[in-house]
Amino acid sequence: MTDITKLIRSHLSTVETYASVDPAEELARRAGISPEEVVKLNGNENPFGPHPAVAGAIGASRLHLYPDPNQNAVRKALAKYTDMPFECLLAGAGGDELIDLLLRLFVEPGERLLDCDPTFGMYSFCARVADAEVVSVPRDENFDVDTDAVAAFDDERTKILFLASPNNPTGNELSEAEARRLLEMDMVLVVDETYFEFSGNSLAHLVPEYENLVILRSMSKWAGLAGLRIGYMIASPEIVRHLIDIKQPYSVSAAAEAALITSLENRDDLMKNVKIILEQRGRLEAFLDTMDGVKYWPSSANFLLCEFEQGAGVVFEGLASHGVFVRMFSHPRLTRHLRASVGTPDETGRLMKALKTVI
Ligand SMILES: Cc1ncc(COP(=O)(O)O)c(C=O)c1O
Repeated sequence: MTDITKLIRSHLSTVETYASVDPAEELARRAGISPEEVVKLNGNENPFGPHPAVAGAIGASRLHLYPDPNQNAVRKALAKYTDMPFECLLAGAGGDELIDLLLRLFVEPGERLLDCDPTFGMYSFCARVADAEVVSVPRDENFDVDTDAVAAFDDERTKILFLASPNNPTGNELSEAEARRLLEMDMVLVVDETYFEFSGNSLAHLVPEYENLVILRSMSKWAGLAGLRIGYMIASPEIVRHLIDIKQPYSVSAAAEAALITSLENRDDLMKNVKIILEQRGRLEAFLDTMDGVKYWPSSANFLLCEFEQGAGVVFEGLASHGVFVRMFSHPRLTRHLRASVGTPDETGRLMKALKTVI
């Protein structure tokens, strides 16, 4: 009998997996309630869902045909939305696929990926799968990037640096001055703007100036398409060309393409939902200001990182007992922190009510 474990690549046999968010059905089962009663605030998803026109657009798309591997229609729509040239744009099956592809393109086994922790876990996860070395440069006491500490790793082994702006889970942004300093280093800088439509700030205008800059964006959050999996990047035509060469040609489904195009056509409506979410974030902040034993970090995104004197575990369990699920972390600097996605007015009300009894 073949011992299959001996055939598995050695660096993958005990790889640390990505800590995904639990689906509503699983949360409901644990809390002994129905999935409809769950207040799901653990995935930074958009509670308003896709634009109503998306379902019709998917229904009308030609699902029996493979999608266009050159993504002509999608890239044209993105060029209009971003005001960037067609050649600088590429869509993927979520930002996640593009993160993985960037590693495949730039990082050899044993070479180094940098991120600045605490941050989104997908960067280091993809690096582990690619057998790259991960160095997480700690953020400072305000969770800002320590550019001097990053500079210490500016050598021939470091190929790529991932920074989310706004950062998940801390909510703060990277400034243009910091980005310019980092872009002078000899590595690719990926600025992950998954939450761009909530912050309104972008560094995409630097792409024509720096060939080593990649901007990542997503349709999961502002456009409510997390389940459909579509995101995109803005980068130099050179990087986009190389990525098209190595990308699975049909990874973005025809349904996801139709959803992206329809969402961009209806962006004013979708931005009304973004506005409601931002108002609810303000409401939650005002509520937390009145509470003892908790502080929150200023956020430019659709979530708030909160720090509890009681520690994270007890508050997490207390909220869960009310059917409210937020995100807890294993990071050593986040033992007292929970991240709450901002939901509908009703969900925000339920979160505040549950917090009142738990804290
Ligand atoms: C910072 C950041 N980047 C990327 C992603 C992944 O986005 P997508 O759904 O487009 O794969 C997330 C999802 O939570 C995120 O927080």
